[in-house]
Amino acid sequence: MPKTKLKKFSQYETFPNTYDARNLLKGKWHQEVFKNNNPIVLELACGRGEYCIGLAQLNPNKNFIGLDVKAARMWEGAKYAIENHLNNVAFLRIQIDFLLDYFEAGEIDEIWITFPDPQPQKPRAKQRLTHIKFLEKYFLLLGKFKSVNLKTDSDFLFQFTTESVKDINVQIQELLFNIDDKEDLQDELKISTYYEKMWREKNIPIKYLKFQFV
Ligand SMILES: C[S@@+](CC[C@H](N)C(=O)[O-])C[C@H]1O[C@@H](n2cnc3c(N)ncnc32)[C@H](O)[C@@H]1O
Repeated sequence: MPKTKLKKFSQYETFPNTYDARNLLKGKWHQEVFKNNNPIVLELACGRGEYCIGLAQLNPNKNFIGLDVKAARMWEGAKYAIENHLNNVAFLRIQIDFLLDYFEAGEIDEIWITFPDPQPQKPRAKQRLTHIKFLEKYFLLLGKFKSVNLKTDSDFLFQFTTESVKDINVQIQELLFNIDDKEDLQDELKISTYYEKMWREKNIPIKYLKFQFV
């Protein structure tokens, strides 16, 4: 690992708003981390955490947890949250596959998935974060009438996701093939990430899907 990555990796562990597989907080996030009963929103594949930071600034009465496996990336968001006194943001370094080991059913109010790797190769289909295998876990965590938001550059993953949700009981709440075509775009969709900026520079339309389990 390059030196700066290593340094961020070890610093990540010293921050007060960062957690990893050693912290067994299942069912205890409200009480032990946020010390309030506000709804908890997860951002999956959060990278540098721009989305949960942006959402936390827009929604001070909600709590946000960014999840990713890469500590050196989350270091950026965790540091920003500390420096800007954003007490409603935390980061958890885990493999999203093991989500159910870290959260209790019903503990989560909403999920955002921001620019996940599309994993177009067929043998990797089960690693797509909107594969039915993951959707079932999200349903267990959220329960009925709670939403999942997907923002992506990938036509492939967008199509795959719209097909995947047909196999389960969901109601589509919003579907945009290009968020820039929408008039009066909601502030939550104006938040931009490292990867979103990269795709925008290549003029790739940003797609958005919101659905709730019914
Ligand atoms: C393309 S990046 C997007 C990062 C960020 N959301 C953005 O838009 O800049 C995808 C991220 O997903 C993370 N990731 C992919 N699969 C994962 C998994 N199974 N568990 C945890 N993190 C995962 C990667 O580490 C990476 O940071």
